[in-house]
Formats: sequence, C-alpha cells, structure tokens
Amino acid sequence: MNNTPRDIIFRITLKFLESDISLKLIIDYYTCKKNNFTKRDISFINNVSKGIIRFKSVLDYNIFKHSKQKTIDNKTLSLLYLGLYQIIYCDSIPNYASVNTTIELAKIKSKKSKSFINAILRKNDKNFLKIDSNSSYDKLKKISFGYRKWQVNKLTKDYGIDKTRQFLIQNLNIPKIWIRINTLKTTKENIEEILITNKIDYKVDKFLEYFLLIEKFDRKNIIKKLIEKGLIYIQNPSSGHVVNILDIKPKMSVLDACSAPGGKASLISQITKNNVELTCIDNNESRLLTLKNNLSKMNCKNISFINCDSSTFSSEKLYDIILIDAPCSSFGTVKKNPDIKWRLTEKKLKNNIETQFKILNNLKKYVKINGYLIYSTCSIFNDENENNIIKFLNENGNFNLSKDYKIPSNFKTDLGAMKIFPIDNEYEGMFASRLKRYD
Ligand SMILES: C[S@@+](CC[C@H](N)C(=O)[O-])C[C@H]1O[C@@H](n2cnc3c(N)ncnc32)[C@H](O)[C@@H]1O
Repeated sequence: MNNTPRDIIFRITLKFLESDISLKLIIDYYTCKKNNFTKRDISFINNVSKGIIRFKSVLDYNIFKHSKQKTIDNKTLSLLYLGLYQIIYCDSIPNYASVNTTIELAKIKSKKSKSFINAILRKNDKNFLKIDSNSSYDKLKKISFGYRKWQVNKLTKDYGIDKTRQFLIQNLNIPKIWIRINTLKTTKENIEEILITNKIDYKVDKFLEYFLLIEKFDRKNIIKKLIEKGLIYIQNPSSGHVVNILDIKPKMSVLDACSAPGGKASLISQITKNNVELTCIDNNESRLLTLKNNLSKMNCKNISFINCDSSTFSSEKLYDIILIDAPCSSFGTVKKNPDIKWRLTEKKLKNNIETQFKILNNLKKYVKINGYLIYSTCSIFNDENENNIIKFLNENGNFNLSKDYKIPSNFKTDLGAMKIFPIDNEYEGMFASRLKRYD
C-alpha cells in the first residue's frame, strides 16, 4: 500500500492537517515527476485530495455523528476522510472497495484505529449526509455552508444574507479553467485551431477576446504543453480587467509591486507589445524566480526585477503607474483553492490588512504627479478592499479615486472601484481601485 495513489492522498491530507502549507504546494510535492505516477493516478490524487478539503465539513459531520470521541487524531482522521470521501462522492468506486482499501492502509498507517475506522465507514455505508451546490438551504446550514462561522458572519455583514448564501453555495462547485492566449508568441487563430483539432470545447470570454473558458478539461496534456511553450497562461479574466484599468500607454514606466508569478505582468507586456518599461518586485525569492522563468518563456521583454519588500522599497525614480496586487486572503478564489477556508484565520486576515496598508502608504511616494496607483486584491472582504482605500484617501488628500476607466458596468461599485463577485459566472472574485495622484 506504500506509494499507491491512496497512500499519497492519505499523506497529502495528513500534511495539510498538520501544517499551514497550501494544498496546491503539498499536492505538487507528492505528485512530482520522480514518483512516476500515471496521468490517471495524478488526476485521481488531485480530485480526491481537493475534494476532501472542499467537503471537509461534510466529512466531519458524518464522522462525528457516529463517534463517541470528540477529538480524533490526524492520522485516523486522514484515513477516515479518504474512505468516506470515496463513499460519498466517488460514484464509480463501489463502497466495499472504498472501505477495504482504507482498512488495508490503516493496517500500516494506524493499526490501533483500524476497527474504529472500519466501524465509522460501515455506519456511513448507506446513510450519510451528502452536500453539494444543489443541496437545500437547511442541509447546508447544518454544516455552516462548509465554511468557518466567522467567515460566514463577515461575508453576511459585507453583502447581506442572500448574496452571501449564493456565494457560499456556488463556490462549493469545481471551477472550470480559463486560459489566456499569449499574443507575444502565437495567435488566437492558432490556439483555437489546436483546441478544435484536439476536441477541446471552449468558449471565448464575452468581454476579453484572448481569454478562453475550457469547458471540458480531459485533454490536460495538450493544455500543459501549450503552457510549457509559453503560448498560453492559466488566468482568470478577472485579472484581465485589473490590467485594463491600468490603461497603459506606450513607453510608460510601470512598477508591479507584488508581481509573482507574473500573470498580470505578462499581460502588461502582451497588451503593450513589450513597449513599456516594467519593473517587477516580489519579496519572495523563489516566487521571483518563477516569475522570471514565466516571463522569459512568454517572450516578455524590457523588464527589471527586484527582490525586496514593497512596504520598505525606496527609489529615486517615480513611476507613471504603480500596481499593487496585494497579498490577501484570496477569498475570491475559494472555489479554485478550497483550502483557503480552513487556512484563513481572523489573525491572518488582520495581518494582511496591515501589510496591504503599509505597502500602499510606502509606494504612494513613488507615483508621478498625475500618475496612478492601482490597488487590487483577489479578496471579496471589504476590509481588504474598500475599507483600506477609504482609509487611504482620508489620510492622503493628494490622491483621488479615479472613475474614468472602462469596465463592464456590473463590475463597477458605487464608490467607483471595480469589484467582481464570483456568483452566476466563472469569474474569480477580484477588487481594484484606481487612485490618481494630484500633487
Ligand atoms: C496576489 S500575489 C500576486 C499575483 C501577481 N500579481 C500575478 O498577477 O500573478 C501577491 C504576491 O505578493 C508577494 N508579496 C507579499 N508580500 C509582499 C511584500 N511585502 N513586498 C513585495 N511582495 C510581496 C507574494 O510573494 C506574492 O507573490
């Protein structure tokens, strides 16, 4: 049972429960090339590991309903999640197989809890609570919609009950993948031809023509090859709207202050056909390296890189445009990254808000007069977005919120900022505001 896909899922789940590392990084580590898994194995590992974390509260509910123990150690819990997720959500696997393979693994990983695991799985064999985005409101309430209570309360305060409920429910779904065609290296026609030849269904975004929604994603290797060649980039159109707000003119100087892994930076290069003087900062050295590799692979030119902290960065030079795509809770991407809801604590959110404000307050000094500071996050919490901006404008009379930029009207807030709310669409949650410096 060692090094089988199920063993790897067990290890991924255990690592997730015992660390604060993102699920994506853990999965990438365990499925790297040296482990020699087939594509089918990797897909199984990915789907089940992400599914376990997406529906963790459903699994907890079904486990603790039958358990006299109020707390269960992480090894036992990881095994229970593995077995139970397959019983509830993997219709193609017979229940006896889910139970038996889990018990075999338990004999090696946690012998003492083998019979406990067996009992809980068998009690759930036919009778369990299954939640998905079609479940009734009463059922969803039983598990706090699958989120932490404080998150639900905070969203309700920001958006009211109805919108919050819609968000919570729709974000239980598995997202589709968006790609952006890199016109620095290829053409839209070329990519569309490759997709059509390989029977990959796609839809062009209704606002941004270089963004395609991949409807069916079973030819992952084709997409992977296009990414490796730098012909496409996995990117949600929400990011495209942020870059549009920059409204960059040729030869402008642009500082991208939180730049890695380079999604927005590469789009800036693409839109301007490399006719821009771009400086990319990131405080994380290894992420900066990924950024450099991504940009070089995509033929992005005229770029300088700085590894430093944007909240203390200093410069002789002033910039036409500074983009702060700030570190944030990423709560607008919770559909794609279901682990966020378990990893985000109130304390971390507070730290984010402090960092965001520090970066804003430092970089305001390096915007040219009549230049722009664009502040964006992929969070939907007002405290990381509007509230930061309102505080900043109150304290800095030489900046105004600029409203004269083009975005679809339903993305514009009353304040004049951009907010994309991830319901009834395949967009990620995103906020952006454009601040003009007057003197
Ligand atoms: C939301 S991500 C940026 C995504 C990027 N703009 C893109 O479109 O691909 C935030 C980035 O900010 C970096 N970061 C966090 N704190 C920072 C700081 N104080 N100074 C500079 N970079 C920071 C993180 O390492 C991370 O790469």
